[in-house]
Amino acid sequence: MNKQTARGTLLYCRPGFERECAQEITDAAATVGVYGFVKARENSGFAVFIPYETVATGLRRDLRFVDFVFARQIVHDAVLVEAMPTGDRITPLLQCIRENFDRRFSEVLLETADTNEAKELSSFLKKFSPAFNSAAANAGLLAGHSTAPRLHVFFLSSAAAWVGASDPDNDSPWHMGIPRLKLPRGAPSRSTQKLAEAFSVFLTEHERADWLREGRTAVDLGAAPGGWTWQLVHHGLHVTAIDNGALDPALLANFQVEHLQVDGFHWHPKQAVDWVVCDMIEKPARIANLMADWLANGYAQRAIFNLKLPMKKRREEVIACKALVEARLTDTNFLWRARQLYHDREEVTVSVARHQR
Ligand SMILES: C[S@@+](CC[C@H](N)C(=O)[O-])C[C@H]1O[C@@H](n2cnc3c(N)ncnc32)[C@H](O)[C@@H]1O
Repeated sequence: MNKQTARGTLLYCRPGFERECAQEITDAAATVGVYGFVKARENSGFAVFIPYETVATGLRRDLRFVDFVFARQIVHDAVLVEAMPTGDRITPLLQCIRENFDRRFSEVLLETADTNEAKELSSFLKKFSPAFNSAAANAGLLAGHSTAPRLHVFFLSSAAAWVGASDPDNDSPWHMGIPRLKLPRGAPSRSTQKLAEAFSVFLTEHERADWLREGRTAVDLGAAPGGWTWQLVHHGLHVTAIDNGALDPALLANFQVEHLQVDGFHWHPKQAVDWVVCDMIEKPARIANLMADWLANGYAQRAIFNLKLPMKKRREEVIACKALVEARLTDTNFLWRARQLYHDREEVTVSVARHQR
C-alpha cells in the first residue's frame, strides 16, 4: 500500500545548508502571500516547504529560481509516495502522477539528495530507470517537447520518493541540480570549475559569446595558482593576475597573462577592464566593498567573486553583502546574482553586472 501526504515545494541543496534553504523558501513564499512550514533534517541535502493552504499555485507561478542562493533545484507540487512495494514501485508512482499532475512532461528525472547515504541508491536507480522511463512513456506522460515541465522523482530510499515538477527557464537544467563539468586538462587548480560553472549559471548564451572572447580583458584578484586565470585565458581574454603567490609556469609563459605580485586590495588598473574576478580568502564584507569600489569607479564592468561564509548566520552575511554593494551602486542598472554553486564549499559565488536583459 502506498501513502501520500500534502503537496510541497522541494529544494535540493548542498548538505549542511538545509537551514539556509528553509529560510529562503519561507521568506520567498511570504513575499507571494503563501505561508507554511519547512521539513528539513541537517545534512540531508534537501528541504520541503509545506504551505498551510492546500492550493498554493502562486508558488509555482511567482517564485523565481534565480533569486535563490542556496537551492540547487526547486521542484513544485511535490507529493511524497511512501511504502512502495519492492516488487512494484512503478504502479504507485504512476498512480501518484496521474492523480496529481494533469500535464505531460518533457523528461523524467530520477534523483536523490547529494549525500553519501543517498548515493547508495544509485545502483538501484540505474536498474530502475529504464523500466520507469518506458512505463512513463507507455502511460503517455512524455510530451516530447522541451517547453513542457520536467518530472522529478526524488528518492529518499528505495521505498519512498517525492514526486514533483519543475518548469523550464525557472529551474536548474541539470540532473540533481549538479553540472557535470570535467576538470580541463592543463588547468592548474580545481577551482577553474567554479568559474566555469559561474559563467554557465550567471551568463546567458549570448552574454557568454559577447563577454568571453578574444579582445576582452580581465583582472583576477588572488589568482594563484591560476585556475580562474586559466579559465579566462581559455576563452581568449587577456588577464592581469594579481597574487603574491606563484602562478602556474605554463600560464606565466602565456602572452595573454600578466602576473603582478601586489596587494589585491590596493592595486587598480590604469585602464578600465571588462571583468574583475576575485577569489581572495577574506571577510565577505571586505570583498563586497572591494568589488563595489571596482564597479562604482568604473575599473571593471562586470564582477564575479567568492564570498567565504562564516560558520553562523551565513544567509544573513550574504544579504548584508548584497545591501552593502547595492548601497554603493546606486545606479540601479546593476544586477546582483548569488548562488552557492556545486563547486562551492562554505561559500557562495556572486555576479554583479550592468543589467542588459
Ligand atoms: C583560494 S586562492 C585562489 C585560487 C585561484 N582562484 C585559482 O583558481 O587557482 C586565494 C589566493 O588569494 C591570494 N591572496 C590573498 N590575499 C591577497 C591579497 N591581499 N592580494 C593578492 N592576493 C591575495 C592568496 O595568495 C591565494 O593565492
